[in-house]
Parts: sequence; C-alpha cells; structure tokens
Amino acid sequence: MPITNAKKQQNKSDKRNSKEDLVDFEISLLLKAVLFCYDYDFRHYSRASLTRRIFNCLEKSQIDTIAEMIPKIIYDADFFELFLKEMSITVTEMFRDPLVFKTLRNQVVTQLKTYSRINIWHAGCATGEEAYSLAILLHEEGLLSRCQIYATDFNNHSLSIAEHGIYKAEKIAGYTRNYISAGGKASFADYYQAKHGNAKMKNELKQHITFAHHNLIKDQCFAQMHLIICRNVLIYFDRKLQDQVLSLFKQSLHHRGYLVLGDKESLEFSNQKDNFTSIAKNQRIYQKACYD
Ligand SMILES: C[S@@+](CC[C@H](N)C(=O)[O-])C[C@H]1O[C@@H](n2cnc3c(N)ncnc32)[C@H](O)[C@@H]1O
Repeated sequence: MPITNAKKQQNKSDKRNSKEDLVDFEISLLLKAVLFCYDYDFRHYSRASLTRRIFNCLEKSQIDTIAEMIPKIIYDADFFELFLKEMSITVTEMFRDPLVFKTLRNQVVTQLKTYSRINIWHAGCATGEEAYSLAILLHEEGLLSRCQIYATDFNNHSLSIAEHGIYKAEKIAGYTRNYISAGGKASFADYYQAKHGNAKMKNELKQHITFAHHNLIKDQCFAQMHLIICRNVLIYFDRKLQDQVLSLFKQSLHHRGYLVLGDKESLEFSNQKDNFTSIAKNQRIYQKACYD
C-alpha cells in the first residue's frame, strides 16, 4: 500500500528527537571526549546531577551549547581543569554528622586498639576536614601515633587545600559545635592555630595523614585497611559504579575491617551486601564479614 504524504510527514516527525534526547546525546559525546583525552570516566555518574553540573559549567564559561564544549575539552587542558573542578562537589565540614564520629569512638575504637599499626583510608576526602576530624578523635583515644591515614580524592585543587590544612575562621564556631556533639574530650581550639584570620590545623595531626590523588574508578585498591571512610561520594554514582567501588573497598579491607558510608548511602541494594555486617545502621557503619 503506498504511503501517503501525510504519513511520510508523520514518520519524519516521529524521528525527530526531543530536546532532552539531544542534550543526552551531546552529554554522551562530551563524556567520551573527557574519557578519551584525560582518562576520567564520568559515564556512570548519576545523570541528573551530572547534567546540572554540566549546565553550571556552560553558564560559568559563557558557552552556548554542550556541543561547543567538546572541542574546548579536547584542545584546551586548562578548560578541562575548570570542568573537573565543576564536576566534583566538595562540600564537607569538620565532624560532619557528629553522631557518626561519636559511634566510631564508642563502637569501633575498642577493636582498633587491638592492632599495633592501624591503616585508615578516607576516600573522597575533598578539602580534608573529615580526615583532620578523625585524626583528632584518634589522638584523644591515644591511637594517633599508631595510625597512618591515607586521605584521597581525584580533585587536585581540593587536595592542595587539604594539605595546607588552613580553614576560614568563620567556620570554626560550627566546627566546634560539631566537635562537642561528636563527644570531643578537650577543646577544639587545641587543634589549630589562629593565623591571619584563618585556622591552621596543627602539624601533630598532619604528620599522620598522607593526602594523595586517587581515582576510585580506575585506580588500584589499598592493602590491609582497618577502616575505610567514604562518605557522600557513592551518592553521585549509578548502581553499577557503586558496586564496583564497594568491591574495591572489600578488597582493600583487612579481615573484619570497618567501612563507613554517608547517611544517604547504604549497602542495602548492593551486590556487596552479604560481604558486610551492619554495626550501626543509622550511621552507615559496616564491618567486613568473616566466613572462616
Ligand atoms: C561531597 S564530597 C565528600 C567529602 C567528605 N567525604 C564528606 O563527606 O564530607 C565528594 C568528594 O568525592 C570526590 N570524588 C568524586 N568522584 C571521585 C572519584 N571517582 N575518585 C575520587 N574522588 C572522587 C569529589 O572530588 C569530592 O571531593
């Protein structure tokens, strides 16, 4: 039966992609360019928040379309640095979610005390506040001298802030409140020096922290960790990538090592669920299961 002109027109318009499809297509091309040129793989980051951040980046760089961003990514490494900065959300604070630190103090430290040397990995440490908070807790529990804390992120800009350990003085009041709620045993002021209107974390804490570049998607596992803290990072990944990173954590953990996730993250729907037992459900603290 011959196709009428109206039908032909109908077929043609069926093939037209919606604006959302086009944006999605452009984003896929952009992410391929990023992977090809710089070996950063954002393809399994959750699309909604990734799309928002790409549009923020467009606005800040005064580029009209995602398609126009692609040659800039390919040929301009400085532009890629800006893009990378925009892609990672580095919001953090000292003793964030104080109850998590209180629970670590009350339920995990006793086990850590049984080791002569304690290895800890903060994955996705952003600007370092979380690692300094744990160092303070471990100091107060008499454990810091036995600890090596590896604090890693794939954002070099954040890592350099973390290494300097200098934070804005206006944040200190909030950090002090968190420290007290987390069961702090001294005064938060004992752990920093006021300097040019900022707070510089003391060297005694820094000595036990190694800040290093590590990309959770492509870099190797760490060996024999007694505690891994990775909070508010997996939330940006899709399920497949979450499982991959959780498997990396399982491999990196010592026999009966501990894993701490963020309050919106859980092992509940992960294929790693059976490899861990829950120690404190609300605080997302897990222990590697022991089958022998
Ligand atoms: C919201 S911050 C979390 C900071 C801190 N853990 C906390 O909860 O306060 C998320 C961090 O994850 C880092 N990140 C995202 N993807 C990563 C990856 N593939 N490898 C390493 N770090 C990553 C970001 O650069 C950012 O610093």
